[in-house]
Order: sequence, then structure tokens, then C-alpha cells
Amino acid sequence: MAGSPRQVIWDVYIMTTSVQTPFAATTSSMFAPVTPSQLSAEEVDKKEQELLELESRVCSQGDTVHYAERPKFFTHCSGSYLYDGHENQYLDLQMWYSAVNLGYANQRINNALKSQIDRLPQLACQYLHPEKVELASMIVDSVQNGFNQTGRVHFNVGGAQAVEDALKLVRKHTGKSRMFAFQGGYHGRTLGASAITSSYRYREAYGEFGDRAEFVPFPYCFRCPLGKKPDSCEMACLNEFEAKFEHEYTGAWNPKTGKSEFGAFFVESIQGTGGYIIPPKGYFEKLAKICRERGILLVDDEIQMGFFRTGKLWSMEHFNTKPDIIVFGKALTNGLNPLSGIWAKEELISPDKFGPGSTHSTFSSNSLGTATGLEVMKVFAEGDYETTVMEKGAYFLNLLQDLKKKHKEVGDVDGLGLALRMEMCQADSFTPNRALADAMFQRGLEADLVVNGKKMGLVLDIGGYYKNVVTLAPSLEITYEEMDLAHDLLDLLITECKKG
Ligand SMILES: Cc1ncc(COP(=O)(O)O)c(C=O)c1O
Repeated sequence: MAGSPRQVIWDVYIMTTSVQTPFAATTSSMFAPVTPSQLSAEEVDKKEQELLELESRVCSQGDTVHYAERPKFFTHCSGSYLYDGHENQYLDLQMWYSAVNLGYANQRINNALKSQIDRLPQLACQYLHPEKVELASMIVDSVQNGFNQTGRVHFNVGGAQAVEDALKLVRKHTGKSRMFAFQGGYHGRTLGASAITSSYRYREAYGEFGDRAEFVPFPYCFRCPLGKKPDSCEMACLNEFEAKFEHEYTGAWNPKTGKSEFGAFFVESIQGTGGYIIPPKGYFEKLAKICRERGILLVDDEIQMGFFRTGKLWSMEHFNTKPDIIVFGKALTNGLNPLSGIWAKEELISPDKFGPGSTHSTFSSNSLGTATGLEVMKVFAEGDYETTVMEKGAYFLNLLQDLKKKHKEVGDVDGLGLALRMEMCQADSFTPNRALADAMFQRGLEADLVVNGKKMGLVLDIGGYYKNVVTLAPSLEITYEEMDLAHDLLDLLITECKKG
């Protein structure tokens, strides 16, 4: 392979970005400095074109890269910013779907990974290493603090794999393979996770899903699935759910045995991919009660909203509701070596219930992941993220409200901590406007938005039922100046894109 054309493209593209001249005024000491490329603009374009052609031949397009017409290359990152080969700077307001809560190239987290590489970079998961036990202990303590519940942790690698483990645990405990989940919920794309993810799009080409969940409407009050108004609905959606257990003919309940056909309800407290929808106060308390009274477990998927995204370590802490199982992933390692897992109540996961070999994956408690996760948890324990995230979130939401006042096309804004939403609509402020959201996404990546005399790009993520919601998950370390910049960039982007 050495010396082959592929090797040459790669070497030239990467090696020339490694000079040691940090950009000025783009990073704080918390984040690693970025190093600019030595290539000319023409050389960068040429290399990218060659790589794109190679990619089109050698990479599967089954992932999400080719949702974009022309996939984008980035070469550096630091703090809240990504950089491309032309040294264009992009403010990132989605941070890898909330996998990088502590900012890109966070020195402290990177150093934890580096020091683990020098100490114990790899170890078969059948043996123990200190960081695994210490990390599990910090997670167990966090659930004890947040929910006053005792339990244990089981690690895995990706979010969907942890969801699979949660499904196994539910099946083992209840003997049931049918689950409830929300319309608009997202739990991953393995077969088991797809079965509890509402989008048929992800299942369509893959045969029968006999264990497909029953999908219940989420309280999406801006577009109430029952056409009600929040101030007068009296949570009609929950009453509808409860009615499933009124008699045997709903297909969910046997009044004679007092048993449900369903083992668990998989929930996201705030829908992530579904468009950062925040449920009304009291909703989850009542839902949990309905489930508890019928022996249906509550599985809280914190993969996107966990690790202080919403101002609490576990987003469900906002809703005064105790989960039976918590699933986590993404930001646990700040986007470095992947690690995910489940926490479950002792009565579900005690060794006599979930014994050795119940589930396993080669990389499940990989030492680079556990060391990184441990450092992330220490950062959270030492900081006051409950306060700072709520304060920054309130500031950011205020800026979004200003955009809503200025642009009729912003139909709804909302947020909890730094999980924020901006719903793009037609001029009636309600009819979903996917074209506008798409245009904003694309235009942001062109890096030609001029604010304060500087050309910049903006990295956004679009989600929601109608793919018209800008879902904002900025770094928890975002500064107030960067939030002001975000406001100005979004303002400009909306102004430009609505011109058509
Ligand atoms: C709430 C939620 N659950 C599960 C997943 C799946 O995680 P992964 O992509 O790591 O498999 C995601 C990913 O976006 C998610 O947001």
C-alpha cells in the first residue's frame, strides 16, 4: 500500500496540516490549538476532489454521509469550532449530535486518553481494570444522587448496542418482547433498536419486525397529535394511553391476570432526533405511574440528552420520575473512544438475575473509553454545570426568542438547558418549512456568512417530524460571546435563506 496513489493523497492532505502555528483568538487554553494547512486553496480543492472520487468507489454509502449532495471534509477542531482545509472556521451548534458536550479537543479529556494509551491502552474485557470500576461507581452514585435508586452499570460500545442490552434485560426480567415507545422517538439502527424506533423508513427494507414496538404519541404541544391546546387538553394523550388498560379488547392488557403484553416503555425525556421537544410539566410523572401500576418498566434513553445537555446529569431528573433502566452513550467520552452502557435497578440486574455472560461484546469496557469517561465524569463532578448550563441555556433561548420576533418563519423556539429548538415554518409561523431548514443547513456549510467583518460557517443539525427543526446542542463550554455570534449568524442565515 505504501507509495500507492491512495497513500499519497492521504499523506499530503494530512501531513501538511501538522505545522505548529496555532490560530490566534479562536481557542482558549481549555482546548487544543488548531494548526493551519500549508496547502494552497487549489491544492486543497484538488485533494478533496480526489478523496471524494476515491470515497465514492471504496466507501459504503449506507451511513448518513450521502444525505448531503456534496459531503463535507473537516480537518481540525477546537472548542466550539470546526475548520476545513481552507482554514474556514465554522461555529458548531450541534456538537456531533451532543456527543462532544465539553467542546472539541478538550485538553483535559484528551490528556486522560493519552495517558491511558501510555499505561493500559488495551485489555480483554474479561479482565478488570481500575478505570472501569471507578467509572461504574461514579455513574451508580450519580443515579443515587439524581433518583435515589441503587443499581449497577453494564458497559457496551455504541448507543444502539446499549439499547440492545436494555432490551435483553427487559426481556429477561419480564419474559416479554413487546415494548411501548414514542412516535418521534429514536433509539438507533441495529435491528432491535430499529424495532423500537418509530420511523418505518429505517425498517422498510429489512423484512418483518415481529417485535416492533407500539408507538404512542409524544406530547408535542406545538403540533398536538390530538389537535388540542396545552392549556385546555388536560393531557388527553396520556388519558388515551391509559385507556389501553381499561379492558381486554385494546390488545394491551389482560384484566383477569392484571398483566400487560408489554415489557417496557422506552422513552427519551426530551426527543432528540424528533426535534428537541420538551414535554409539559407532570407528563412523565403520570406516565411512569400508569406504567408502574401495570408492571411495565420505564427505560430512559439518555443517549442524547444525558451528561448535562439539559442542565442535569440525567435529563429525566428534571421530571421527577424514576427510571428502571437508564441507557447512555455519546457524550460519556466527549466523542473520543466510544463507550456506552446501561444502568439498571439492582432488582433487575443483580448477579442472580443477570449472571455472567448474559451479554457481551469484545470492546464493551475498553480501557481507553473507561479512562476517558472517568475523566468526563470528574469534570462534571468538579464543575457547577447545573448552574452554568441553565444560565447559558436561558441566555441562548432569549436570543432565539429575539429571532422569533424578527422572523415570522421561526414558528417555535424552546429549550431546556443547552438543548434548544427553533422550528422553521412558512410565513404563517406554523406550516412546516423543510426547504428553509435545508437551505440553512446547506448555506451554513458554505462558510460565507460575514459577521463583524469575518467570514464564517455554521454547523447545524436538522431534525423533527417534518425535518424543519434546527436542533441546537452547543458545547456546554460555549461562551457568551459565542452565543451572541450564534445569534448573529442564525439571523443572517435566516434572512439570506428566506429570500429563496
Ligand atoms: C436518543 C438516542 N438513542 C439511541 C441512539 C443511538 O446511538 P448510536 O448512534 O451511538 O448507536 C441515538 C443516536 O443518535 C439517540 O439520540
